[in-house]
Amino acid sequence: MAKRIYLSPPWTGVRERALVSKAFDSGYIAPCGPMVDMFDSRLQALSGQHAAAVASGTAALDLIMAELGVGPRTTVIASTLTFIATVGPAVHRGAKTVFVDSDPDTGTVSIPLLEKALSNVRKPAVVIAADLYGQCCNYDALEAACARCGARLVLDAAESVGGSWKGTPAGLAGTAAIYSFNGNKIVTTSGGGAVLSRDPEIVKRARWRAQQAREPAAWYEHRETGYNYRMSNLLAAVGCAQLDRLEEIKRRKKRIFKFYCRLFGQSHIPALPFPCADPEGSTRWLSVFLFPSESVRDKVAARLAAANIECRPVWKPLHMQPTFAGCTVYGGQVAEDMFRRGLCLPSGAGLTQTSLSRIAKAIAG
Ligand SMILES: Cc1ncc(COP(=O)(O)O)c(C=O)c1O
Repeated sequence: MAKRIYLSPPWTGVRERALVSKAFDSGYIAPCGPMVDMFDSRLQALSGQHAAAVASGTAALDLIMAELGVGPRTTVIASTLTFIATVGPAVHRGAKTVFVDSDPDTGTVSIPLLEKALSNVRKPAVVIAADLYGQCCNYDALEAACARCGARLVLDAAESVGGSWKGTPAGLAGTAAIYSFNGNKIVTTSGGGAVLSRDPEIVKRARWRAQQAREPAAWYEHRETGYNYRMSNLLAAVGCAQLDRLEEIKRRKKRIFKFYCRLFGQSHIPALPFPCADPEGSTRWLSVFLFPSESVRDKVAARLAAANIECRPVWKPLHMQPTFAGCTVYGGQVAEDMFRRGLCLPSGAGLTQTSLSRIAKAIAG
């Protein structure tokens, strides 16, 4: 059997190894240290806002939910077409979740339906808008809608690190945002994430909560119960090295996306790229295509599986998940259709020409 081609494996090399070695030799084998501080500053430069590196994107969302006081009285309104972690921390705090369909032109949250939801839901309300597959939401429209309705806006930019919305860096909108550096993401630290905000106090408090909310005293003194969520110094070293290579990773991701566009453009399988309103700003973290029907999509997926090549359907909308049975959803049909016809194709920055040829051959059948 030919070697497995994965959907989005990390692309690491000598730079990562060198910085991990440096971190190791520094003796900071801990969730603090010079690499964590450096990674925070590098993330600040990338995102245009204050940043604190933490253990995962989910932990980052949890810290923001703590900051916003999300609890059983809060309604959290989220895009339905996203990974469950977008709402997981809010659910664990007892918030009521309401889901909103996708815009057919982007797959990200529909602004008219979001406004409808905002005008109906019990307050206080927090909107968590998820960027999708490297593409940012329409940040301007989101901010305007949340301001009109008096809701706080949180951006789940886990999937858009390095991307932008019409020139605005990923996550730079609303009250706060998160990044993810999970193993499959465009920048990986194996597991990791970041809390981001234009408000330095929010990030300062996130960093404090992430380190057990310790007060400045010689002994362990706590006014509040915190978390152990800060990023390890060793993993921050991987993150710094990855950021050094981010432009090259993006170039490669875009090349892979163009390869699929050409492939389907010339093929008897007329798949279309997943819709995108700002192609310049998308990192194409994953190359995603929509097929004419579910059965054609399944046929292509089966051909890839038979050739030991990983692919995956588009996110199953959250309102269709058994754990959210009976939830409130505004619309839903657009996301359901994208789930049925969409396929995420191998998009690793390290894909070789030989691997791409293998993928093309498998898809052709
Ligand atoms: C949209 C979205 N939100 C949140 C997360 C959670 O990030 P992490 O895996 O770093 O906890 C992910 C990815 O894993 C994601 O895709």
